[in-house]
Amino acid sequence: MTELTIRRPDDWHLHLRDGAMLAGVIGDTARHFARAIIMPNLVPPVVTTEDAKAYRARILAAIPAGDRFEPLMTLYLTEHTEPDDVEAGKASGLITAVKLYPAGATTNSHGGVRNLDNAMPVLERMAKIGLPLCVHGEVTTPEVDIFDREAVFIETVLDPLRKRLPELKVTMEHVTTKDGIDYIRSSGRNLAGSITTHHLIINRNAILVGGIRPHYYCLPVAKREEHRLALREAATSGDRRFFLGTDSAPHADPLKECACGCAGIYTSINTMSCLAHVFEDEGALDRLEAFTSLNGPAWYGLAPNEERVTLVRRDDPLSFPHKIDTGAGPVTVFDPMFKLHWDVAG
Ligand code: NCD
Ligand code: ZN
Repeated sequence: MTELTIRRPDDWHLHLRDGAMLAGVIGDTARHFARAIIMPNLVPPVVTTEDAKAYRARILAAIPAGDRFEPLMTLYLTEHTEPDDVEAGKASGLITAVKLYPAGATTNSHGGVRNLDNAMPVLERMAKIGLPLCVHGEVTTPEVDIFDREAVFIETVLDPLRKRLPELKVTMEHVTTKDGIDYIRSSGRNLAGSITTHHLIINRNAILVGGIRPHYYCLPVAKREEHRLALREAATSGDRRFFLGTDSAPHADPLKECACGCAGIYTSINTMSCLAHVFEDEGALDRLEAFTSLNGPAWYGLAPNEERVTLVRRDDPLSFPHKIDTGAGPVTVFDPMFKLHWDVAG
C-alpha cells in the first residue's frame, strides 16, 4: 500500500503551553489534527471554567490563518475544585474532561491532588453528569520505583476509585505498561486508554544507552521492550478502547539539556508519519484510522471528523527539522531513529 485516506485525526492529549511557545507549536498540530484535548498544566494551571475560557481564546488567537482547529478544554483537578463550576463548564460546551495529576507526578503538577478523598464531591458530580476524568496514572510515593509507578497506581488508586464510583468515565492517559493495557482490556466499561506516538517507538534503552538522551525523557518514562510491544499490539488491534493521545510536550532545549532536565517529548510535527510507519510495520495500516480518528471521538461522545486526509508513502525519506524555532527558544523534534516515508499529503 502506498496511499491511505482516513478521516482527519484528533489528538486526545496535547500540551500547547501559552504565549510564545503556544504560537511556536500550534501550527504543527493544526496542520494535521482537527481537534485536540488540551492539557491544563500551565503555570498557574487552568483550574476554573473561567480560566479555560480565557486559555481557549488565547489558543484560537494563535491558530495560523487558514487552519481550522478546535481545542477541547480540560480543567486541572485540585482538592478545591467546585462541582458547580465543573458542571457549568460542561453544560456550556466548553469543558470536555477534567484532568487528575497526582501532586508531584510530572511537569507543573505540584498543585495536583494529594488525597483523592478531598476530590470525591467533584468526581461524584462528574459521574452523574457524564464528564470524563483524564488520569495521569502514576503514584508519587518515594518508595515506589519510577518504572513501577503506573502498575502501583492501577492497584492502589485507579481500581479502588473505579469500584467506588463505577459510573465515572476514566481515560487512563499515556498508558506505558502491559499492566495498563491488561487492566483496560479486563475492564467492562467506563475505562479507555490513550497511547502516545513515542511509547510505540522507544523503550527505556533510548534514554540511557550510550549516554543520557534527554530528548527521549518523558513521563510516564518509557519502560522495557515487553511493554512497548504490548502497547503496539493494543494500538494496532482496532480495539475501541485505545486511541491516540500524542502527549506532545514542548520544552525549550536548555530546559531539557541540563543537569535536571524536564520531562516531555515534542512529536506534533511528525506524529502522523511515525504512526503510519508503526502501523505499516505491524501490517495494520487498515487500522490506523480507528486509532487516530474513530476510537477517540466515540469515547468522548463526539462525531468523527468528516474531512479526510491522505497519507502517501514517498520513495525518498521525508526530512523533518531537527529542531523548530519558537519565540520561547528551540525545541528538539522527536527522532524515531528510523527514516520516515509516510507523508500527510493533504
Ligand atoms: C508533560 C509536560 O511537559 O507538561 N511532560 C511529559 O513528559 N509528558 C507532562 C505530562 O503529561 O506528564
Ligand atoms: Zn501530558
